[in-house]
Amino acid sequence: MTAYTHGHHDSVLRSHRWRTAQNSAGYLLPHLRPTDRLLDVGAGPGTITADLTGLVAHVTATEIGPGELDLTRSTLVERDAAVELVVADVHDLPFDDATFDVTHAHQVLQHVSDPVQALREMARVTKPGGIVAVRDSDYTGFTWRPRLPALDHWLDLYRAAARANGGEPDAGRRLLAWAHAAGLEDVTASSSTWCYATPDERTWWAGMWAERIVSSAIAQQLTESGSATPAELQEISEAWAAWGADPDGWFSVLHGELLCRVR
Ligand SMILES: C[S@@+](CC[C@H](N)C(=O)[O-])C[C@H]1O[C@@H](n2cnc3c(N)ncnc32)[C@H](O)[C@@H]1O
Repeated sequence: MTAYTHGHHDSVLRSHRWRTAQNSAGYLLPHLRPTDRLLDVGAGPGTITADLTGLVAHVTATEIGPGELDLTRSTLVERDAAVELVVADVHDLPFDDATFDVTHAHQVLQHVSDPVQALREMARVTKPGGIVAVRDSDYTGFTWRPRLPALDHWLDLYRAAARANGGEPDAGRRLLAWAHAAGLEDVTASSSTWCYATPDERTWWAGMWAERIVSSAIAQQLTESGSATPAELQEISEAWAAWGADPDGWFSVLHGELLCRVR
């Protein structure tokens, strides 16, 4: 079982709650039909899920455990979005073959132990002619300015921690190969980015990471494994604050994305 590197600390959820269908599933939106039955795997805080309910007929959302699903539920209740909620592991989905028109997973495959099996399962529960849609970031593809050494250290530590947990932080570039290995042949690959370059975006992104690197699950993992000392993490946190305060600060987050037509 893969550990989920980010955990569910409030500093993590703050980042995930910023997500919308528009800024995170733009590649999928033109393909959605009002009659579709959609599955959102690993819905997390559920903001993308809530947006999707306005675009299709029926949405089912899954999370890995009941506690995680409660987080999804709280957003959906807040947003008054009707969604069926199910605890499920993407490696073994509790749905019949050919149940959904669209099966979607945003930033999930990078965290799972067997992304090829995950894609096989997503394809199995999707109707022939339906779509499997996945999007994952690619950490080595992140780029930013100013290039503070402590932020290079942050990236090295994050990538090592994600791999130690059985995940793949550079998932974006691997999605196409994983889909082919899962037997998916009709696949359209693309990439897109998030860019943080306004004062508000810098304050939010830097503030979130400044806290996350000293207070969330990854901080505990890095110190307990001896990969970093609390002082090193504090230095990274301060570098994030410095980046956030720089009026020239610019950050780009690369993602790979796939639309797979199921046969
Ligand atoms: C980075 S979050 C993405 C949440 C949401 N899709 C979004 O983009 O806002 C990844 C989610 O995948 C879930 N997850 C991790 N391993 C999973 C697995 N094996 N099966 C299903 N979900 C999993 C985690 O609990 C977490 O909520």
